[in-house]
Amino acid sequence: MGGTSKDGAPVIEAQGLSKSFGEQRALHEVSFSARRGELLGVIGPNGAGKTTLLSILAGIREPDSGSLSVPGQIGWVPQLAGLYRRLTVVENLRLFAHLERVADVDAAIERMLDQTRLGERRDDRIGTLSGGNQQRVNIAIGLLAEPAVLLLDEPSTGLDPRQRERLWEFVLDLAGSGTTVIYSTHHLLEAERYGNRLLVLADGEAVFDGTSDQLHDAVGGSERDFEAAFVRYLRERGH
Ligand SMILES: Nc1ncnc2c1ncn2[C@@H]1O[C@H](COP(=O)(O)OP(=O)(O)O)[C@@H](O)[C@H]1O
Ligand SMILES: [Mg+2]
Repeated sequence: MGGTSKDGAPVIEAQGLSKSFGEQRALHEVSFSARRGELLGVIGPNGAGKTTLLSILAGIREPDSGSLSVPGQIGWVPQLAGLYRRLTVVENLRLFAHLERVADVDAAIERMLDQTRLGERRDDRIGTLSGGNQQRVNIAIGLLAEPAVLLLDEPSTGLDPRQRERLWEFVLDLAGSGTTVIYSTHHLLEAERYGNRLLVLADGEAVFDGTSDQLHDAVGGSERDFEAAFVRYLRERGH
């Protein structure tokens, strides 16, 4: 399936990843790869295994089986990131830069402020920022080590439509400049709009890997919208 096409070798590759929590199977034999600058949306209902997959890619969890090839630097933006609300934007960035053992902390902070366009808010406490701006700080921290691959777990949760649009502009820019971005979402509209490629998880299995147009085609091309095509696709496969 997709991921190894024209623009060279994949930067991240997973083969047959499986993971259970006790009796609960969270991931079953999931394989995929992504190349430089690709924007890959991992979509599926709640409990499908999205967070489990991303946390294995991030190196936070060990799979029970399967193999993984990842670049040296990988950035991780968890769904509930731990920003210090009483510290300012710069103080948070400085703290995480030290934790990540970044060589030139001041330069990294300036780069991140520039990237997130939060320069004017640098001395504001995190707790006073909008959800959208807080999420940008989380992403800046994920980008601290200048990773080749950035993982975002449900990055738009809790954001209003305008904040979401700005988040996606930012993410599209990142991918455009060569970072591979893998994000999860259960917002199908967003996935359709902002994923070059979609990996559909259902009950821990990867049941589709391709573009939204290809998913439409896979159910005959006659569904009224992506959500309808998605639901039909899963239903036809017993999910
Ligand atoms: N730490 C855990 N302990 C037990 N079960 C878990 C744990 N994390 C996830 N699961 C289970 O694994 C499945 C996949 O969960 P998750 O990866 O969080 O799905 P998603 O992110 O798609 O909602 C679910 O059935 C969930 O209940
Ligand atoms: Mg999740």
